[in-house]
Amino acid sequence: MPDYAGAVTRLPVVVLISGTGSNLAALLTAARAEDCPYAVTAVIADREATGLEHARAAGIPTQVVRLADHPDRAAWDTALADAVATHRPQLVVLAGFMKLVGTPLLEAFGGRIVNTHPALLPSFPGAHGVRDALDHGVKITGCSVIEVDAGVDTGRILAQAAVEVCEEDTEATLHERIKAVEQPLLVDVVRRLTAAS
Ligand code: GAR
Repeated sequence: MPDYAGAVTRLPVVVLISGTGSNLAALLTAARAEDCPYAVTAVIADREATGLEHARAAGIPTQVVRLADHPDRAAWDTALADAVATHRPQLVVLAGFMKLVGTPLLEAFGGRIVNTHPALLPSFPGAHGVRDALDHGVKITGCSVIEVDAGVDTGRILAQAAVEVCEEDTEATLHERIKAVEQPLLVDVVRRLTAAS
């Protein structure tokens, strides 16, 4: 939607990470396109994640909200929700955020939080989707982008992509190939959800 100056009004997106942030990097790269309907306005992590560097390099505000800095889980849940709410996002994206989000975030942004997961849900939910799929011996796995609800990877599935498992795969090699399809899938979902708002 053009604003009075003819520029595109981009919807604010806050990204939550815990790791290397390759999905965040893909979101940031896509956001450079002139017609991109979203802007990443903040990146929040639950630890000093290496992926925060992608945001810092792009001049995007970052914040670390550590569980250990709070008296209990409920206090951390509230602090995380407050940190996100400060940026008034239209959409919250969990891009390798390795903690379950609590009631305060769900109540504030219900239906507007998406998560990317490295397996074909509802198979292999949780923190070790790649390892669990490999251990099970599946021949096809992949990734899922879902709407976040109060369960563990139980929300509505928004998009999925399949990846073939190779005989010689390790958790690391399989995860790398999953990430290669996961990144464009996540970008596509975030573009769709912000364009439709
Ligand atoms: C991604 O593959 C994401 O699906 C996974 O962590 C990775 C983060 O990679 N998330 C989960 O396993 C959540 N259950 P990245 O830090 O390079 O984006």
